[in-house]
Amino acid sequence: MELIQTISRLRSELDKLRSEGKTIGLVPTMGALHAGHASLVERAVGENDVVVVSDFVNPTQFNDKNDLAKYPRTLEADCDLLAKCGVTFVFAPSVEEMYPEPDTRSFSYAPLDTVMEGKYRPGHFNGVCQVVSKLFLIVNPTRAYFGEKDFQQLAIIREMVRSYPFNIEIVGCPIVREADGLALSSRNARLSGGERKQALQISATLFASLDYAKEHSLAETKRFVEDRIAQADGLRLEYFEIVDGNTLQSLGEWNESDYVVGCITVFCGDVRLIDNIKYKG
Ligand code: PAF
Repeated sequence: MELIQTISRLRSELDKLRSEGKTIGLVPTMGALHAGHASLVERAVGENDVVVVSDFVNPTQFNDKNDLAKYPRTLEADCDLLAKCGVTFVFAPSVEEMYPEPDTRSFSYAPLDTVMEGKYRPGHFNGVCQVVSKLFLIVNPTRAYFGEKDFQQLAIIREMVRSYPFNIEIVGCPIVREADGLALSSRNARLSGGERKQALQISATLFASLDYAKEHSLAETKRFVEDRIAQADGLRLEYFEIVDGNTLQSLGEWNESDYVVGCITVFCGDVRLIDNIKYKG
């Protein structure tokens, strides 16, 4: 495995391999890797001849400077994990390398990017599309891998690939959870022991709502989740929406769609956690 920090070096290595007919898998990450990332990487290693993992905390997708400053940075440990997974290249550029000048490109995929995270984190998905499109242009992968935990991000990236158009297969990978249900996230590292216990109520509530939904309307199920989170110690709900899994628009009744997903964002202390659950589809 080789650690590469410049675009030109990564390009020249990949050009050689591509000319030999090798397939290239890309796993974009912001580092602070955990078993959720490892599952994406292992899948990419199994499906491609060459695997590039980018490890770059992208400043343009943070609308909150504090959140950017506090984002964990663990490149050395990340490289140890990636070497064990059989990755070919880790691409860890500096901010200046990725953005030698400000990126003024603007991406808009309304109404996919105006709801939920788009509403509460203005500019976030624009920044995600800026960095992911740059990575796609640099790496030109055969396939790129993203986790379903960031459900809205995955839908927007699929739309960007369709409309750009990029000739890249987007592979969505299931959420990886701790044994007790907590969805893996780099942000979990910022939870204290007590907060970690409180955060368990998020996945526990989503799982309980699966059963509740069998006997109740969509509006009742939404209220069930909202009330349980409101009553849980240490948690503050930002939003819970039950949406069509393709359009991401809120639904009024279960029978309005065959693909129904509940998306939640909760603050535990000052750590913002997201999760989701599939009701149908
Ligand atoms: O999901 C993430 O970690 C980031 O949004 C991504 C896709 C690596 C872009 O910075």
